[in-house]
Amino acid sequence: MVQEFKKVGVVGLGTMGAGIVEVFARAGFSVTGVEIDDAALDRGRGHLEKSLGRALSKGKITEEEHAAILGRLVFTTAREDLADADFVVEAVPERIDIKRDVFTDLDRICPPGTILATNTSSLSVTEIAALTNRPDKVVGLHFFNPAPVMKLAEIVGTVLTSSGTTEIASEVAKRIGKTPVVVSDRAGFVANALLVPYINDAVKAYEHKFASREEIDESVTKAAGFPMGPLTLADLVGLDVCLAVMDVLWEEFRESRYVATPLLRRMVAAGLLGRKTGRGFYDYS
Ligand code: CAA
Repeated sequence: MVQEFKKVGVVGLGTMGAGIVEVFARAGFSVTGVEIDDAALDRGRGHLEKSLGRALSKGKITEEEHAAILGRLVFTTAREDLADADFVVEAVPERIDIKRDVFTDLDRICPPGTILATNTSSLSVTEIAALTNRPDKVVGLHFFNPAPVMKLAEIVGTVLTSSGTTEIASEVAKRIGKTPVVVSDRAGFVANALLVPYINDAVKAYEHKFASREEIDESVTKAAGFPMGPLTLADLVGLDVCLAVMDVLWEEFRESRYVATPLLRRMVAAGLLGRKTGRGFYDYS
């Protein structure tokens, strides 16, 4: 079934979307990446080409593979170009109004059998599914940053998702080299419900001057062997994403451990979102 997929669509080519396009194309799928305008399309394409160029220069892929991957990619600003897509992944900004616009369009444009997956990390997949006339074919396919590297894909089934859809999404995840974990639609799913409060605690430690940012990060990398410390990770994930996850955890469970610490909220208000804005807990400019 998944082997027969002729076209995969990815809507939204930010850091996650561009990485998701790369993952599918490297696994042999023909991928159409969709953005809202030419400037966003160029940014997404640039991100992807840089990442593929790095893989080429490191010898991870050959010149021929590089050319073949690029040959499998189409970039467009027309969602209508997904009219023959078999599987679509949405990775647009985490706002329900934007998701509504995308899913209403995809539901109208794509054939009834097309599975619509969302990479959301902080919105309810059920709420997104209910925006369509095919909620049984809507599923969460949640990647981790950087998408080409991290091996987990959370498959988020809702009370409306059919078991066939969850199975296909799991098969897709395996085909692109990820380990699927089927989880239910609750705030934070599984991985973020564990990771993001941990990041929030690290921000709290920094806010209360327990130690310097470097010492906080080293306390985890050197003590527990994590590849990066929590403040560096917050900068990678994006402080806005961390805050959004904290807020949905609080909304859903009202437990004090899910209260976002004031510094996290203030940094987001100040636009210090991490790597993507050039400054977060560390400076990247
Ligand atoms: N895109 C593509 N590839 C990348 C990359 C990127 N942005 N960043 C690193 N890589 C690749 C490198 O090319 C390199 O590949 P090879 O091994 O094939 O040469 C490999 O990853 C290792 O990279 P580096 O040697 O440059 O650096 P590193 O060893 O320090 O690893 C890291 C970087 C992979 C990011 C590692 O530090 C790590 O695993 N960090 C933890 C990341 C994490 O926890 N992510 C989950 C966040 S939670 C989330 O994303 C969910 C959400 O909804 C908020």
